[in-house]
Amino acid sequence: MSKTIIVSNRLPVKIQVKNGETVYKPSEGGLATGLSSVYKGEGNVWIGWPGKIVKEEKAQEKVKADLKDLNLYPVFLTREEIDDYYEGFSNEILWPICHYVPSYAKFNHRYWEAYKKVNRKFADGVLKLAEKGDTVWINDYQLMLVPFLLREKLPDISVGYFQHIPFPSYEIFRQIPWRESLLEGILGADLIGFHTYDDIRHFISSVTRIMGVNSTANHLIVHNRPVIVDAFPMGIDYEKFVEISSLPRTRSNIKKIKQSAREAKIILSIDRLDYSKGILQRLQAFELFLKNHREYKEKVSLLMVVVPSRDEVPQYRELKEEIDRVVSDINARNQTLSWQPVFYFYRSFPVEMLSALYQMADVCLVTPKRDGMNLVSKEYVASRVDEKGVLILSEMAGASKELSEALIINPNDVPGLSNTLLEALAMSRNEQQERMIAMRKTVEKFNIHHWVKLFMQRLNEVKSMQRSLATK
Ligand code: F6P
Repeated sequence: MSKTIIVSNRLPVKIQVKNGETVYKPSEGGLATGLSSVYKGEGNVWIGWPGKIVKEEKAQEKVKADLKDLNLYPVFLTREEIDDYYEGFSNEILWPICHYVPSYAKFNHRYWEAYKKVNRKFADGVLKLAEKGDTVWINDYQLMLVPFLLREKLPDISVGYFQHIPFPSYEIFRQIPWRESLLEGILGADLIGFHTYDDIRHFISSVTRIMGVNSTANHLIVHNRPVIVDAFPMGIDYEKFVEISSLPRTRSNIKKIKQSAREAKIILSIDRLDYSKGILQRLQAFELFLKNHREYKEKVSLLMVVVPSRDEVPQYRELKEEIDRVVSDINARNQTLSWQPVFYFYRSFPVEMLSALYQMADVCLVTPKRDGMNLVSKEYVASRVDEKGVLILSEMAGASKELSEALIINPNDVPGLSNTLLEALAMSRNEQQERMIAMRKTVEKFNIHHWVKLFMQRLNEVKSMQRSLATK
């Protein structure tokens, strides 16, 4: 019986050591929920890094044995590999390039060597398990070379590659010294997925110009092998967010938030710490709003959650310092004895608290400068079972293509964003409801399970198409 192998940089669980004992905690992110129906299926498996450096062979064997019961297969990474492959090549080259900040990219050859080596390690992990007829679904930019490495050795397997972050325009992508090898890597897949049509357009423009590949619309011919590039906008587990919205712990969190907010309206922002998220512009827009609309003084607060991320990468550390400074300036300039303009949390929260925050937020501010999809916007909508609240959403987030009933803004337009805050805070209940109902329908229908099903179906179709062409 053929099986499906999921591959991603991180496994859906991460190792934590508590009182000397190794425990396995779910990793953050929606991918694990969506793909659980796949990898938990009989014979299927998920390959990835277990989130912690495990040096000793004996300890590695123990982790392997523990994870085997969960259909998980670990790829162990050394400190050096984390530094150069994950923090280096993935997050100091590919991440800034794909998020249109090429000036942050450090084209370091050592990073490239590590990226090749670790991609080979992941591919070897797959090759140990894969057999003719199997399907392999590779997720994200950390593993661009894996599709080619598999195709070389096992031409008969089905390979899908999905990139969760934007694919940049040709002019940006071509700046990478190793652009050919990266594209050749991705082109080893039979189906290549992105969140939006713009990503497809940019990818096809790069492969036609850099690799001379022929394309007709989204069909490519790679060494006589048809390859399809398509858009699969990722969704969330809508039902889960609806269920969590009424759990006792969520309700008690709502009470606590109500007590501390008193009568003030809440503007909510939740992000991982990242320069692509537009956090500083958002703070500037909020301060400008307070300056232009004194009537809102003491009547509104910005509740900002920033989840720590990639804190070993210098640009992330610098951004953290800058946010700390700007928040404290805004508070120092504007606060009164009974009111704090910005509540800033640098930490993650359990989902019952996130749900309470979403439900209490009059406005949710999602203003990335660039984002593949942005699932926070969808979580806000799914949590609003009361059909109230206003979503302000950046046109640079993939989600804006689906959630067109949000107030769509340009994140670099600080005065424009400040005006939109006024519009959102003053929006009538009826208008809020009309917009929210429409968005909820979209988020419910195009949920994470729909996304997984669509990708897998399309991959099967591509494979059948290739087979029928081969027999002609
Ligand atoms: O958005 C892309 C992504 O890789 C997600 O898949 C992931 O949840 C997030 O960035 C954080 O990534 P990491 O902490 O693994 O670098």
